[in-house]
Amino acid sequence: MKDKKLLQKIQLLAEKYSATGQDIYSYLDGLLYADYMGYWNYIKLETLLSIQTPQTDFPDEKIFIIYHQITELYFKLCLIEIEHINKNGRNVLETGEDLGWNKTLTTDIFIEKMTRLNRYLNKMIDSFDIMIEGMDKKEFLKFRMALLPSSGFQSVQFRMLEIRSTDLTNLSKKSSKNSNLREIYEHLYWKSGANELATGEKTYTLKQFEKKYNERLIKLCNKMTTKNIWAKYKELSSKDQQNKSLIKLMREFDLNVNIHWKLAHYKSAIKYLKSKNKIIAATGGTNWQSYLPPRFQKVIFFPDLWSEKEKKEWGKSWIESNIK
Ligand code: HEM
Repeated sequence: MKDKKLLQKIQLLAEKYSATGQDIYSYLDGLLYADYMGYWNYIKLETLLSIQTPQTDFPDEKIFIIYHQITELYFKLCLIEIEHINKNGRNVLETGEDLGWNKTLTTDIFIEKMTRLNRYLNKMIDSFDIMIEGMDKKEFLKFRMALLPSSGFQSVQFRMLEIRSTDLTNLSKKSSKNSNLREIYEHLYWKSGANELATGEKTYTLKQFEKKYNERLIKLCNKMTTKNIWAKYKELSSKDQQNKSLIKLMREFDLNVNIHWKLAHYKSAIKYLKSKNKIIAATGGTNWQSYLPPRFQKVIFFPDLWSEKEKKEWGKSWIESNIK
């Protein structure tokens, strides 16, 4: 063989396989027989397109399902970036190959991750029109009845995003220093959502969610006490904490999750579920009107990055100009 480069590559492959006691010849045979990768296989296109299964024949139900799935994928993209911050910077390849990556969470990596997060969130906020404007209201009110008691409220990825972003006390109504983690968890702000409007009791929607995810989420809360984004920011040197670009991005993230996304979502609830004259049954009779507005929830991931006035007016100006 004349091609030196090719020989070197084969040599490297042989070393890789022999290091784990495997036979390179079998793998080379495998390469000979294997078919070329197709796009459809790589992204599992057929599986992806086969997981939209409406409960009714109303055509717009598919839009509802697909947009929820798109959002869950965006949540997943967000979680990938947040996990990097939680784990102190970028992951290192298992092979140990040196790609010039940094194992510590430098301000540059922090900034890169927060930029990506805001990029995803801006797309999610912008595209919420697909829900707000893009479905027939009459159809929605009918197919929604077939989906009860499920609700996007049961999105565990959204709760993971919150827990991975900030101290649990910033998500809880019980934040005294003497409270233990379970007490704080029991008073998380979202425990007062998906409550029955008539009685104030937890709905089946909330109870089922707790049954399925409580233990997993509590474990995550424990793990994130020192690893969430806010904790990682506070670990930076005081000079790095003053970095203007980073502060700007963190404030943007806080606004994006806790005001802009929440309000885009709230707008869709207003559009489909609010009626002047009659109570709309499609929510299953929950307290959503007093729960969903961000100015009532007042969730703030990074409180020290906001002035007292900004915290006091959390969620107000946007709501006045966007929801009549
Ligand atoms: C027409 C579209 C939508 C309507 C009418 C709607 C309605 C609601 C309502 C009423 C709630 C409060 C809980 C309840 O009472 O069930 C809720 C919560 C929630 N929904 Fe939606 N939703 C819509 C679209 C979506 C989409 C596309 C997602 C994406 C996954 C989503 C995710 C969530 C989340 C994460 C919560 C909890 C929010 C919080 O705790 O502040 N929703 N939704």
